[in-house]
Amino acid sequence: MTNIAIVDYGSQYTHLIECRLRELGYNSDVVMPDECFDKLLNYKALILSGGPRSVFEKDAPQLSQALSTLIFEKEIPTLAICYGMQLLCQHLANKSGYDSVKKSDTGKAGGKSSSEYGKTVLKISCQEKILEGVPSGEVVWMSHGDYVYALPPNSHSLASTDNLRNAAVALINHSVYCLQFHPEVSQTKNGSKIIQNFIAICQISPDWDSRQHLQAIKEDTLKRVQNKHIIAFISGGNDSSVLAEFLKSVIPAERLHFFYVQGLDPATSIQNIRLLDPGITIVNASRKFFTRLKKVYNPEEKRVIIGKIFVEIWEEETRKLARKLNIKERNFILAQGTIYPDVIESGGSKHADIIKSHHNRIREIQELIKVGAVIEPFSDLFKGDVREIGRILNLDRRLISQHPQPGPRDAIRVICSPARALPDDNLLDIAFSDEKDIQKFCGALGYSAWLIPIKSKGIQGDQSTYKYTVGLVGKYRREELLTLANAIPNQFNDTINRVVYVSSPADTTSLAFLGVRKCDFNPETKKIADHANSILVKSLHLANIYNSVSQAFAVVAPVSFDSNGYGVVIRAIETQDFMTASCYWLPERLLFSISKEIMKSIPEIQIVLYDLTSKPPGTIEWE
Ligand code: XMP
Repeated sequence: MTNIAIVDYGSQYTHLIECRLRELGYNSDVVMPDECFDKLLNYKALILSGGPRSVFEKDAPQLSQALSTLIFEKEIPTLAICYGMQLLCQHLANKSGYDSVKKSDTGKAGGKSSSEYGKTVLKISCQEKILEGVPSGEVVWMSHGDYVYALPPNSHSLASTDNLRNAAVALINHSVYCLQFHPEVSQTKNGSKIIQNFIAICQISPDWDSRQHLQAIKEDTLKRVQNKHIIAFISGGNDSSVLAEFLKSVIPAERLHFFYVQGLDPATSIQNIRLLDPGITIVNASRKFFTRLKKVYNPEEKRVIIGKIFVEIWEEETRKLARKLNIKERNFILAQGTIYPDVIESGGSKHADIIKSHHNRIREIQELIKVGAVIEPFSDLFKGDVREIGRILNLDRRLISQHPQPGPRDAIRVICSPARALPDDNLLDIAFSDEKDIQKFCGALGYSAWLIPIKSKGIQGDQSTYKYTVGLVGKYRREELLTLANAIPNQFNDTINRVVYVSSPADTTSLAFLGVRKCDFNPETKKIADHANSILVKSLHLANIYNSVSQAFAVVAPVSFDSNGYGVVIRAIETQDFMTASCYWLPERLLFSISKEIMKSIPEIQIVLYDLTSKPPGTIEWE
């Protein structure tokens, strides 16, 4: 039992609140919106999370009677974020017979869109304790469509944004604060300060220590494993490398069996594997991956197939080991380096939307988890926590500081397309009908804009999206390009979730002829993805900025001027928690030299695009 309850309305960021609190030295519990009164009564502070729903939806989670009593009668200090804010304000206004919340406006009727995804500037009008030390004009991170339009009774606005009158609201005579932005995401400058201010209002003492937590994970792992054997697939990325080191520190070597499944990542990855375990068993599954992913175009389908192949390999290798060691198959446990974002983006909480099924969380694995055949010691931790465990365990620094890699590797970095023709998609027709308006919008800042008919995954207002891309052509100016990258998905949020800059070719007159080509994950496209990626990573190292970028990679896109070539997207982001991210702005010379080298040394590449999108509205990967 801790002092702080986080009520989970299904936001992708709920556990980030927990994470930020831990960094400040406070433990917390995540509870469901219908948690009983008696349990909630023990907490000294309540935080209502955001969520993907609208208060106008019939079956959307409500403010329970228990919470209402605790907040308004027992006066437990409360911080309500995003959906939590809308719920609380609507609850109070409805009691007085009016609506506080307004449904998302698309802005299509000529007005401004109410949606805000990503960076917004907060203008503080009233400096109360909750915003102490936060200067007006600072960046906060938004992800919402609906908004608080009319203040509930006995409340006043503390801050606004260009789009929103009530970005922060306080209830008079209560310690209740509502924020439309997310203080828990690292992109909100001073977000931790706001959470700290709230804790100070609640007057609770620190009660969290990370070494103690590692000890607790060790004890829990030992209890679950008992005297069974462990099989773990190690890819050489951050999480599985820390997992390997962690397992070595708790399980005797004769009961630990590490495997490396080859087929999805570049040949050079094997170097990392050898650093961890020179005797690791290598399973070459290249043919299996190419065969089963042939002509598969949908990203979710690809992810599930990859997950299934991993499960098959686990079953096969367990059988072999069981025979060899003469022990029963049920005496083997699969250890996975799953971290919290994998769980939550795969739809791991009751009210959260599925953003993308991570390969280590497909249905078959969830079944294995239910019967105790899988352990995931890091499943409630974020990337930063896992790296910290790696440091405590003295893991090789190169393995900790390398950029993260997704489990499905190259397979989700080749965007697939079933045909040479434009997709037969209603959304694309709407996007094309928006194109003129988008051009007008960009023209005002001196840029021309093109609709690139490729869809990618995104996240907007805690909901998963799959929408089209806008390409910008013009001078490489940071302020203007990032402003457009932020504004276009807000303004045209029905159809667009990603914005890229055309960095090559220099002559863009032919852009009107850019078409979609047929493409799937095969040895040729994998080779192109690896080659472009190696150019990007090498260039970041040479420019001495690899460690300042949180993650960078190249994506192969099925676009071409003549149906023979491909496009490459350069993605480079800055983030701490990988739940939100912003574009890492590459210096002009570097971007153009990388683009030039990609065009020159990979003859199939006809166009290079630099991804300017933040998360939200995009996700870090394209699929
Ligand atoms: P997204 O694209 O969801 O990515 O913004 C967040 C972080 O997770 C990585 N990622 C994955 N990692 N299996 C993984 O182990 C997956 O299926 C997967 N998908 C995305 C991504 O590279 C980024 O660091």
